[in-house]
Amino acid sequence: MSGPWWREAVVYEVYVRSFADSDGDGVGDLEGVRSRLPHLVDLGVDALWLTPFYRSPMQDHGYDVAVYDDVDPLFGDLAGFDRLLADAHAAGLRVVVDVVPNHTSQEHAWFREALADPASPARARYVFRDGRGDEPPNNWRSVFGGPAWTRESPTGQWYLHLFDSSQPDLDWTNREVHDELLRVLRFWLDRGVDGFRIDVAHLLYKDPELADLPPGEYDDRRVGDRDEVLAVYEEWRRLLDSYDGDRMTVGEVFLFDVPRIARYVSGSRLHQAFNFTVMATPWGAAALRRTLETALQHFSPGTWVLSNHDLTRHVTRYGGGSLGRRRGLAVTALLLALPGSPYLYQGEELGLDEAEVPADRRQDPIFRRTAGAEAGRDGCRTPIPWEADAAGYGFTAGDPWLPFGADSAQLAADVQRRDPSSVLVAYQRLLATRRALLQEEPGDEVVFLELDEDLLGVRRGWLVAVLNTAGEAVQVELAGELLESSAPGAEAAGGVVTVPAAATVWLRS
Ligand code: NOJ
Repeated sequence: MSGPWWREAVVYEVYVRSFADSDGDGVGDLEGVRSRLPHLVDLGVDALWLTPFYRSPMQDHGYDVAVYDDVDPLFGDLAGFDRLLADAHAAGLRVVVDVVPNHTSQEHAWFREALADPASPARARYVFRDGRGDEPPNNWRSVFGGPAWTRESPTGQWYLHLFDSSQPDLDWTNREVHDELLRVLRFWLDRGVDGFRIDVAHLLYKDPELADLPPGEYDDRRVGDRDEVLAVYEEWRRLLDSYDGDRMTVGEVFLFDVPRIARYVSGSRLHQAFNFTVMATPWGAAALRRTLETALQHFSPGTWVLSNHDLTRHVTRYGGGSLGRRRGLAVTALLLALPGSPYLYQGEELGLDEAEVPADRRQDPIFRRTAGAEAGRDGCRTPIPWEADAAGYGFTAGDPWLPFGADSAQLAADVQRRDPSSVLVAYQRLLATRRALLQEEPGDEVVFLELDEDLLGVRRGWLVAVLNTAGEAVQVELAGELLESSAPGAEAAGGVVTVPAAATVWLRS
């Protein structure tokens, strides 16, 4: 394979709390991840991304970091992290860790100091402002609901938090903030991590005027996404380049305007940025084709994301149950045929649906901050069912922090491993065939085939992939050897391929 390892890597997101619990407290941990590495090797991914496992009061389940260079006891300790990293590397897997530069926890030493002593230098590392009378400095709303400002006493000033009030935003116009985050990156680079996933990478610099937004119109581009942030990533890139081994960054640039996302990966900035545009595209050949063409034009190549720990699981978005699983696998197979780096979210390889979580078990701050008006993200974060017949489905010996999804027994990993027609086995086969294609250096050129309106066909090297979005099987004139199909019933004979309903076939052609 040509180019650095990350260029076309399949990266698997481990939402640590819900992956595997080694100590029976109901919450996943690093030792649990280590015990399940064989699953990732068998699946055929290249890397794992670990969501935050740092010391945290867990108000946003770890995205509220109190200490950036230590492991929270809930998840293990630094020695356990080192063991996980060593085992992952020995198994041929790279490890990407999360970094959260936009905000700290309110329990971070800086913020405590900023509150305890308003004259301290720590105050200027956050965004404190006077209000307008008894009103906050502007009308910005938190992404999680409610105002983006909280008032503190005794000064009566307000601090900015684009997320929960327990997550005060840092002020990136203050050089001390840059230096501290560089120190944090060095800490983890020195331990041997292969890269960083950067939380809300586009929000660090705010509109300097902190101007009001039109009421009801939160818009990341008007709050952040400012050119100043690009210099931060140029500096981070210089740091990473000073290390050996192709260390990388992937930015969570939560925008949908592809040329604007592309700014983050141009020149010597980030190596990758998440591309959520496929996730936001409805099922349908024409819409998907437009989305793919735009992405392929602007990224060289980019990333593909259908699901993560913030989004409704794609099986549910595509209609739920067996229909959603079928469509989800079809789109996944299409994306895996393209140049770029697919990011998979734990449980999607099992075809998990969004789980029902009763109100009294909801944990997401979004649920609390909207007084239940928004359900929040718990339904995509429920624990992984590993073993159909084990207590706690092999996830935990205790009470899981969130309930399991309703289909856990049918969709458990051990059941699927034995079933050649399962979603899990389809992922394994597709990833293995993709790896074989990449060995032959197929290049980045993608040719779109001109097919009927329900179909979307692409050619990359010897691989041709055809997605059929119709409700019935379709025959296409195409010569080639049938390699894979995301659903049963595919055939290739006499220059004609039968593509089952809501399925993608792969041909060697
Ligand atoms: C994006 C993360 O993916 C999400 O889980 C988190 O709540 C917010 N950023 C705030 O850190």
